Amino acid sequence: MCGIIGYLGYREAYPILLNGLKKLEYRGYDSSGIAVFRKRKYNLYKTKGKVNELEKKISFYKIKMKGNTGIGHTRWATHGIPDNINAHPHVSNSNELFLIHNGIIENYHAIKIILSKNGFIFKSKTDTEVLVNLIEFVQKKNKLSLEEAVRISLNEIVGAYSIAIVDKSNPEIIVIAKLGSPLALGINEREFFISSDPVSFVNYTKNVLYLRDGEMAILRKDKDLDLRKIRDNHKLNPIIKELQINLKEIEKGNYKYFMLKEIYEQPKSIRDTLRGRLLIPNKNIDGLICIDGIESNKDIFINAKSITIVACGTSWHASLIGEYLLEELARIPVEVEYASEFRYRKPILGKKDIVIVISQSGETADTIEALKLAKKRGAFVFGICNVVSSYIARNVDAGAYTHAGPEIGVASTKSFTAQITVLTLLSLIIGKYRSTITNNRYQYLCKELKSIPEKVSQTLKIDDTIKNISQLYCHVNNFLYLGRGINFPVALEGALKLKEISYIHAEGYPAAEMKHGPIALIDEKIPVVFLSTKTGQYKKIIGNIEEIKARKGKIIAIVNEDDIQISMLADHIIKVPKISEELNPLITVIPLQLLAYQIAFLRGENVDQPRNLAKSVTVE
Ligand code: AGP
Ligand code: GLU
Repeated sequence: MCGIIGYLGYREAYPILLNGLKKLEYRGYDSSGIAVFRKRKYNLYKTKGKVNELEKKISFYKIKMKGNTGIGHTRWATHGIPDNINAHPHVSNSNELFLIHNGIIENYHAIKIILSKNGFIFKSKTDTEVLVNLIEFVQKKNKLSLEEAVRISLNEIVGAYSIAIVDKSNPEIIVIAKLGSPLALGINEREFFISSDPVSFVNYTKNVLYLRDGEMAILRKDKDLDLRKIRDNHKLNPIIKELQINLKEIEKGNYKYFMLKEIYEQPKSIRDTLRGRLLIPNKNIDGLICIDGIESNKDIFINAKSITIVACGTSWHASLIGEYLLEELARIPVEVEYASEFRYRKPILGKKDIVIVISQSGETADTIEALKLAKKRGAFVFGICNVVSSYIARNVDAGAYTHAGPEIGVASTKSFTAQITVLTLLSLIIGKYRSTITNNRYQYLCKELKSIPEKVSQTLKIDDTIKNISQLYCHVNNFLYLGRGINFPVALEGALKLKEISYIHAEGYPAAEMKHGPIALIDEKIPVVFLSTKTGQYKKIIGNIEEIKARKGKIIAIVNEDDIQISMLADHIIKVPKISEELNPLITVIPLQLLAYQIAFLRGENVDQPRNLAKSVTVE
């Protein structure tokens, strides 16, 4: 999703804003803009396209972006096409107020009609321009301060926002506010850093305040922070935290793209997910799993009637794997729901039901709304998030961070395997609590889980094989991914990875379902990726491969190192280490991530920022 950025302090704002916007590019966007202020003067430039185009145009036109106050924005259009006029910052009719906004104003049209009747004109098609003019209208009509006009206007708004607004006649104040979209404030002696993601100011300060929904702040130069409730202007005590991310983690290093770096980080990120949570059995102790959020709610998990898992995209695929694991190991009925569907349903939930909310960013709009509905229905809500202090992380009853570290590439990789790792830990510990898993199996799977980081390292060595296969198939128009059992959701994930970064159409399917229609698609032009490691359905997979071969489909088979049968049938084989069936996805997804990456790279696509996509979909 888009990003907002701002600075108020003693340094030149422009370089801070520009570098900050570059750090937010991973969120996905279509246009960008910056405004800087000094005394009553300002300079504003905005354009469709990437931040480096903004930078080039500013230097080409020799625009002097001088001033210690500034705001910047990367836009992901919701109202109005991506173009220079609809880009942010938006300016009020009097040319006094400058606003940047992440989110959606749902009732903007009604407000626009009222403002038009009061003589306002609109240059853009955006909802944001309506908001900046509403604030102007309220301010002038009631002779209010900027902050009071903002507060009153936001109480009329239906929708989601994180905003920053400056009145050019007083650039020593920036007003910010948040509802539904992320907003972090970096605080140093005599300076403030505003951003959708603290990653953009971490090299200036580690003191961060995460605004909560319904909060606003008035930032005054050389003054203390003034934090308020939007609803009633009640003054709040700011809770300043120390940022836990470091620059090294957010730099690409010697990788071409963040996505490749994050694929290769998975041995480390899975180790980090397990750290402190999985103690390996030895002659003195049993394999020990401890997850705070579970320990402190043990009875809820022991007595749970059902578990519903809600998520979007890759997190939804992780949820499907969680369903297999929880039903297999903890014997609790599980339903997996798209958050975007669940939020409009009337789910039958009560206090003996658990809803698990999975989200890497912790800011996905649909997943947030699903969380709110689950809580309203009285369910116990458990969160699995990667971003510390994200909205979802702060609003669940309990939870477990995935600790995968910042994931910058839009395509989710290390957070997917981290989510599955947490779900595996959860299923094991709940199965142990409920005695639905024998101690021997529990110990065995704890040991297997501990071996995963090393086995992922081994799996990553297949990249040359993947590169050769990618050369052969990087120009096809369609791919099929087939799997059975716990590998079926991995087939879905492999298909999503390929389509979202290479733009090749790809579908994941249960292998046995092919004969119910999709097999009609098969011919020599379609490569079919089979997840065919040694699981309980291995023999059935052989039959499915035969069916495809008989119709000239090209078979790319992910097999175990000791495989013989399928290796004789497939056109291409990718060998991965053997692991118990329950833990297969942590290994079988790796070649699919690499395949998607290599094909997209060969096609010359922007792997980290695929077209139309955003890292966190904070709008509906
Ligand atoms: C996956 O590669 C995509 N980036 C997307 O499907 C993502 O998983 C989805 O938007 C959910 O995001 P979240 O985990 O941050 O909620
Ligand atoms: N709704 C606003 C627009 O379309 C902001 C979108 C965003 O979050 O970037 O300009």
